[in-house]
Amino acid sequence: MEEHRLKEIMANVNYSLVIVTTSLGDIINGQAVAWFTQASMNPTMVAIGLATNTYTNSLITKSNIFSVNFVSKNRSDLVEHFGYESGRDIDKFSNIEYETLDSGNPLLKEAAAFLDCTVVREINLGDHDFFIGEVIEADYDSLQWLDIQGFKPKAA
Ligand SMILES: Cc1cc2nc3c(=O)[nH]c(=O)nc-3n(C[C@H](O)[C@H](O)[C@H](O)COP(=O)(O)O)c2cc1C
Repeated sequence: MEEHRLKEIMANVNYSLVIVTTSLGDIINGQAVAWFTQASMNPTMVAIGLATNTYTNSLITKSNIFSVNFVSKNRSDLVEHFGYESGRDIDKFSNIEYETLDSGNPLLKEAAAFLDCTVVREINLGDHDFFIGEVIEADYDSLQWLDIQGFKPKAA
């Protein structure tokens, strides 16, 4: 197996591109996530893959809740906002409109759809942790949203 050809295959897998948010007491944060998938139909479960060193990961490990925010196809800027800097260094919600879900998690006002989840399992897989979440609340305004192949970063 040639390592660079494996990397090319992995780089071309398509994913929805979502903003995962969480809350721990008064702290709220979120990060861009491409590694998101449905994991069970009944009950409905989803999985997110978070690098072990993200602030969001450290918060979800303690809060055991997360929300998946799907954003419109033209909102690559939101992915950049949540995906290029850490909540350890900046308050990512200082200039972002959001509502607070019953769980306490922030829901982006711009979200096309959302899933609010409680963590049922956390699995470490090398440099990423996978969080399996059972969906406890969900709704949508639109069923069309951004995916990794539609991501058009201005900062690139
Ligand atoms: C297009 C895009 C996709 C990303 N996908 C993931 C992902 O699937 N998992 C992950 O851990 N980080 C991913 N990131 C990186 C995190 O969003 C980034 O490290 C973020 O700054 C972490 O923020 P935090 O420290 O506030 O949690 C992605 C970033 C971008 C721009």
